[in-house]
Amino acid sequence: MLSYPLAFSVHFSQIYFFDMPSMIVANWKMNLSHQESLMLARAIAQHSGSIPDNRQVVICPSFLSLIEVGRIIEKTSIALGAQNVFWEDVGAYTGEISPLHLKEAGCRYVIVGHSERRRYLREDNSQIHKKTKAALQAGLIPIICVGEDWEERAQGQKDYILIQQVTEILQGIHLRKEQGVIIAYEPVWAISTGRGIYADPEEVQYAVEVIRQVLLDLYDQDISRNTFRVLYGGSVSGENVSSFSRLKNVDGVLVGSASQKAEDFFRLIQNTL
Ligand code: PGA
Repeated sequence: MLSYPLAFSVHFSQIYFFDMPSMIVANWKMNLSHQESLMLARAIAQHSGSIPDNRQVVICPSFLSLIEVGRIIEKTSIALGAQNVFWEDVGAYTGEISPLHLKEAGCRYVIVGHSERRRYLREDNSQIHKKTKAALQAGLIPIICVGEDWEERAQGQKDYILIQQVTEILQGIHLRKEQGVIIAYEPVWAISTGRGIYADPEEVQYAVEVIRQVLLDLYDQDISRNTFRVLYGGSVSGENVSSFSRLKNVDGVLVGSASQKAEDFFRLIQNTL
């Protein structure tokens, strides 16, 4: 049983790395066929010249499309990410994908611990810990998803859940300054609702402060401030993105539905502050 800090103060005045580009991570999930993925990648690549310099766009297609999408975006500022990874580099693990193979396919980022995988595949914090470690060892930047579900929120457990997830996933992982780790705060109840339900920006700001405080408990100040970036995800759209990206402790967004049509995605990129 791990022990968690029971109480901590929240300092909204802390200084974060404002000068770094705002991140927009597109999670295409299992929604697009290979051909549809290529078409979307081409449309995004064609308009990539209009992406402002202070935005880092990452697209995460399905495994099948990684290599070809990677080729399409090769000469643009857009980076490639995968939606999942296994924790071993090589071996008899039927159906799994090695972090080394993702690297070879041109990925710079990989999403780990998405709530859909926790829900449908029973992924837990200890597996996500191993995936995070393996991704870092392979030189990938993990995008670790954390967040409470509706019941946990209703029971006033949100802070505890966030502290537990971040602690169990990161505890014992040593980081070097030059490595990058991204945490996406994705309240499960706000993901792909299709009903325009998203978290209140003030609540997001608070949740991100909780996450940042755990990082300060786990790592020294330099690492916790400069190695980590924290994103918000959950029904982000072109209409609401600025209310999240303007939050001073939020470094960008993780986007599902609104990243799967070129026009929606470009409106979102343009409206990101
Ligand atoms: P959504 O998905 O934008 O469709 O809510 C976000 C995610 O699952 O990462």
